[in-house]
Amino acid sequence: MADYLSTWKSEPTYFDESAGKKLPEDGKRNVLITAALPYVNNVPHLGNIIGCVLSGDVFSRYCKIVGHNSIYIGGTDEYGTATEMKALKEGKTPQEICEQFYHLHKQIYEWFNIEFDNFGRTSTANQTEIAQDIFKKLHLNDRYVSGTCPLCKYEDARGDQCDKCGKLIDAIDLIEPKCHICSERPVVKSSNHVFLDLKQLSPMVEEFINQVTSAENSHWSSNAIAISKSWIKSGLEKRCITRDLKWGTPVPLEGFEDKVFYVWYDAPIGYLSITKTLLGDDWTKWWKNPDNVDLYQFIGKDNVAFHAVVFPSCELGTGDKYTMVKHLCATEYLNYENQKFSKSRGTGVFGDTVSDLGIPADIWRFYLLYMRPENQDTTFSWDDFMAKVSK
Ligand code: 2FM
Ligand code: ZN
Repeated sequence: MADYLSTWKSEPTYFDESAGKKLPEDGKRNVLITAALPYVNNVPHLGNIIGCVLSGDVFSRYCKIVGHNSIYIGGTDEYGTATEMKALKEGKTPQEICEQFYHLHKQIYEWFNIEFDNFGRTSTANQTEIAQDIFKKLHLNDRYVSGTCPLCKYEDARGDQCDKCGKLIDAIDLIEPKCHICSERPVVKSSNHVFLDLKQLSPMVEEFINQVTSAENSHWSSNAIAISKSWIKSGLEKRCITRDLKWGTPVPLEGFEDKVFYVWYDAPIGYLSITKTLLGDDWTKWWKNPDNVDLYQFIGKDNVAFHAVVFPSCELGTGDKYTMVKHLCATEYLNYENQKFSKSRGTGVFGDTVSDLGIPADIWRFYLLYMRPENQDTTFSWDDFMAKVSK
């Protein structure tokens, strides 16, 4: 473990020492804003942009205009199967893929004038430190037990979550499973894994969800309330949080040297580590300050369960006093001419080519906000776009 950690270069911090750091202030409204961290293996499309980064940017600008003391955190989610697979397909290392796509994401959001206080990434030493700290505290608290889309019949479901019905699945339950790389049928092998004992944590997290969703000074979008309550209602099950992969945050446990954390245990911790990359040890002034900081999280509806249930369970399970989500703003989907956006099928408008079209960023911002899929899926169509922006 020490060896692994020592291979990391120290993280640069991006604040200007002379200007001072932006920290919560007494007597001010302190607002911490996050946008979901997109997987680094894909080029973002218009749906990704309105789904989280642009929505969060508008709210962040609002906070700044009205004089709240706010910071806006974003970045790329770099670990896990998606990156390893992309690297295999392109004959590159996961690091090379992350390097290439992190900068691409950053450029695209800059083109759309998204103003993050820090746009970071999850493959850092800060991430390892915080993810392992949370893990060790959960482990000490004995919240773990050791031990590893059949639903809507969607043919292209991933091994952990179905893109169509959004349900979480165990890869082992997939009907007609096949390898994404070689198309062979995978062989099931047994392996020891660590599970997050959500059942044991459920009374705490249920109380948290009930309290935050009924409080007058907080707001969760109706889909966020519906999805989290349906999770609680159907009973929380233990979830495996380790994987037999190389590209990820190492698990600080004897016998787990060849495994890493599951990307969804890891990803929400990215918000914390990216804040640390910006502020150094003062990151805790935002993230361990629930009485003075209001946390707003902007996500797509497929990310609700992790932000509303799984990550809050981890935070509560550590026994530390984390700043927990107070406002959960989850969008529905933006479709493209009544189809889903798909890079592989070439369906949609993607961030890497949008600047070539000669249409200014503000026009896109206006139309995407106009069509924001707030309560139901909406559709980007070129005819409607031209009609709305030509007036
Ligand atoms: O759906 C996605 O693209 C995920 N990478 C979102 C993660 S959000 C947060 F937890 F980091
Ligand atoms: Zn499904």
